[in-house]
Amino acid sequence: MSETTLDLRAAPKSQAYEELHAHLRSVLQGVDDRVTAMATVSCLVHHAFGHLWTGFYRVVEPGRLLRVGPYQGTLGCLEIPFGRGVCGAAAAEGRTVVVEDVHAFPGHIACDARSASEIVVPVYDADGTLIAVFDVDSSERAAFDDDDRAGLERILAWFSSGTAGVVTAGVVRAGVDTAGVVNASDQARS
Ligand code: SME
Repeated sequence: MSETTLDLRAAPKSQAYEELHAHLRSVLQGVDDRVTAMATVSCLVHHAFGHLWTGFYRVVEPGRLLRVGPYQGTLGCLEIPFGRGVCGAAAAEGRTVVVEDVHAFPGHIACDARSASEIVVPVYDADGTLIAVFDVDSSERAAFDDDDRAGLERILAWFSSGTAGVVTAGVVRAGVDTAGVVNASDQARS
């Protein structure tokens, strides 16, 4: 495992996401724990770009309620109903929402007054069930674009493809050997 927290602010965005994705795959190699992955993704995305707030809201009542999960930043609100704010909209509609100016978004929830723009990406498990949304807030206006959407959606695909058939504590599962010779999870994550 590579225990580095990358700062990718100097790189062009598409290249930064490429490096970040490779780094995350390496750090999460052999991990099949969602909380560990959520904490690690939050940390590495947050510090790679110097965001204001980066983290997960988990689906605790399908179709009804999100509750905060692992994150980096100032205190996030604890619960968000589906359909409320940007996170609630992304959860209800099952699509990535990019907001250039949060003050112009009806129902935006201001957990931190410095927040100016944000992106929220739905997170699915291997069955296609919505398990969370990933929320990234910036203090700059219009900080997020298609590169962020594509880069984050690719990273978050870990939750739909990365948890099946990996090695945990030396236990062999689903065609994966402990020496890492056959690593289905690696292929699934790429
Ligand atoms: N920005 C979110 C609320 C959560 S926090 O900003 C951490 C929203 O309007 O959905």
